Amino acid sequence: MAGVTDRAFREITREISPALVMTEMISAKALLYNNARTRAMLPPPAEAPPRIVQLFGRDAEEMAAAAQILAAAGMDGVDLNMGCPAPKIVKNGEGAALLREQSRAVAIARAVARAVSIPVSVKCRLGWNAAEADAALHLAPRWEEAGIAFLTVHGRTREQFYGGRADWAAIAAVRAATGLPVIANGDIASPEDARAVLAATGCAGVMIGRAALGNPWALAAVTAALTPGAPAWRRPASAERAATAERHLDKLLAYKGEYIGVREMRKHLAWYLKGRRGAAAWRTAALQAESAAVLREIIRRAFTGEQEPGTPKLYAQYQSE
Ligand SMILES: Cc1cc2nc3c(=O)[nH]c(=O)nc-3n(C[C@H](O)[C@H](O)[C@H](O)COP(=O)(O)O)c2cc1C
Repeated sequence: MAGVTDRAFREITREISPALVMTEMISAKALLYNNARTRAMLPPPAEAPPRIVQLFGRDAEEMAAAAQILAAAGMDGVDLNMGCPAPKIVKNGEGAALLREQSRAVAIARAVARAVSIPVSVKCRLGWNAAEADAALHLAPRWEEAGIAFLTVHGRTREQFYGGRADWAAIAAVRAATGLPVIANGDIASPEDARAVLAATGCAGVMIGRAALGNPWALAAVTAALTPGAPAWRRPASAERAATAERHLDKLLAYKGEYIGVREMRKHLAWYLKGRRGAAAWRTAALQAESAAVLREIIRRAFTGEQEPGTPKLYAQYQSE
C-alpha cells in the first residue's frame, strides 16, 4: 500500500503475523533511472524474506527490465499493479487503466514472467467501470498462459474507488475462469470475513488492505484463524498496542530520520488510535505533532487511558519544547 507498507510497517507486521506484506507500489521507470528515492523503497538485504516488490508502469520492456533489477537485488517476487485508481496513475495509462488495454496488460505480464525466474504476480481490479467489469474475468486465463504465478483481485471497478461493497461473486467468477491461485481482496477485516470470502469464492487466500492500517493484529487474527493448528489469536492489551506503536515510531525514525519519520508516524498513530477512548482528540494531537517526543507522549497517555488529551495549552507546552 502506497505511503503505508514501507520497511517499518513490514517489519512491525512480521513481528506480529506471518502474513506476507508487499512493498508500496514502485515506478518501473524510476527504478530504471536509478532514482535514489525509489531505490530506498526496496527492501534491504537485512530485511527478512519474502521480499516482494510491487511495480507499476505501462511499458512491457521497461517493466521487464525493472523486474530484472529486482531479481538481481535478491527480491523474492514481483507483483504487477493493474489496479491503482489514482488519477495521477491512470492518466498515464498505468494501474487500473491497463484493464482497458487488455493486450498490453497481457504483454506486460508475459514480458516480466519471461525476464525473471522469481515468481511474478498481478494485482488487479474487476475492470474500469460497471460496463467493463468483466475485464479481470477475460484477462485471468490470458495472464495464466503468460506465466504469472498468482493473481490478486480487488472486487471493485476503478470507477468505484473504495466506495460500495467489494463484489465477492465477481471474484468467484474470475477464480473459476483460471487455474491460477487467486487471492481475494476487498472489505476483508476479520477472521469471519476471511472465512466468508473463501467460502464464497473458493479462492486460495485473502489479501487485507485498510483493516491493517494501525492494526497489524488484523493480519494476526486472520492468519491464526486460517492456519490449521495455529494457536488461537488473542486480542492485544493496550500496553502491547502502545509498545507496538512506539516500536513503529522507532523504526521510522531509524530508517527515515526525525523530520520525515515524525511526519509519517502522524497518520500511522492516528490509525493506531482508532477506537480508543477520546480517539478524535488524540488523533488531532497526533496529526499535529512536531516531534518524536510528542508522539511518544501521546502513545503513553492515550493507551494507558491515564488522561484525556486535555487542553490545547497542555499540548502547546510539548510543541514548544
Ligand atoms: C492508503 C492505501 C494505499 C494503497 N496502495 C496500494 C498499492 O500501492 N498497490 C496496490 O495494489 N493496492 C494499493 N491499495 C489498495 C489495497 O491493496 C486494496 O486493494 C484495497 O484497499 C481493498 O482492500 P481492503 O478493503 O482490504 O482495503 C491501497 C489502499 C490504500 C487504502
